[in-house]
Amino acid sequence: MSSLCGKIVELVRLRGVAGIGDLLVHACAEFYNEWRLGITTTHWALERAGLPKRVTHWYGAVPYRAFRKAMGSIEITPWHDVFLDCGAGMGRACILAAMYPFAKVIGVEVLPELVDICRQNIAKVRHRLQCKRIEVVMHDAVSYKLPDEVTVLYLFNPFHGTGMKAVFEAVRSSLVSTPRPFTVMFLNTRFFQEELRQYSWLTRVNAFTFSFASAPRGLDCVILKADPDRAASVTGDNGSVQ
Ligand SMILES: C[S@@+](CC[C@H](N)C(=O)[O-])C[C@H]1O[C@@H](n2cnc3c(N)ncnc32)[C@H](O)[C@@H]1O
Repeated sequence: MSSLCGKIVELVRLRGVAGIGDLLVHACAEFYNEWRLGITTTHWALERAGLPKRVTHWYGAVPYRAFRKAMGSIEITPWHDVFLDCGAGMGRACILAAMYPFAKVIGVEVLPELVDICRQNIAKVRHRLQCKRIEVVMHDAVSYKLPDEVTVLYLFNPFHGTGMKAVFEAVRSSLVSTPRPFTVMFLNTRFFQEELRQYSWLTRVNAFTFSFASAPRGLDCVILKADPDRAASVTGDNGSVQ
């Protein structure tokens, strides 16, 4: 309750009374979509379930509207592209992705408690999804070997720092061994903006800021395309081209 009050005060300070309207729109969109799909993926639900701090601390589901906006800015080759959510949490992004004609959706999540909830959520909604091939892998994404079938990597703020560098290196090496068209959907780049610019084999093809009440400064989102030839000629971790 006190954190909600704190958020409201911060909102009014940053965005005025209009921020309260945004908060209501955001909360309504979240609850409506959860109810419509019959799934439970919000952070609030996780806290209510009394799961330990190490679980709740890392978790936040992508706003439904932000995910759809990002999906609207990528092109999918139906029944060919494979989507991977790095840090799948309770499965919201995997479920929303599976509403598109992906050949396969993979979610990688390190916390067993979230993997269980993720699988339960998928089971509840599977009959309504276009893509039925959904795999939830319990693994640390940092040491996970990216399957060469993956063509769309989705990130919503799973972690930062060296872990993220390892993920991008896994993408680069997979592209070198199996060159293919590859898209990165990165939602909330705030903690990785500088590093991201260094990857010369990635080109920014779209960017938008999604502003919503729980993140008054907005979520910076980018869509990047990978160039396998450039990925093959990169040296070191600064992404420079030979
Ligand atoms: C911000 S949530 C994103 C949830 C979901 N992808 C979405 O968009 O709604 C980040 C998730 O990444 C997971 N995560 C953090 N570090 C991880 C790691 N090293 N390997 C796999 N998952 C990780 C957290 O447990 C959490 O569920």
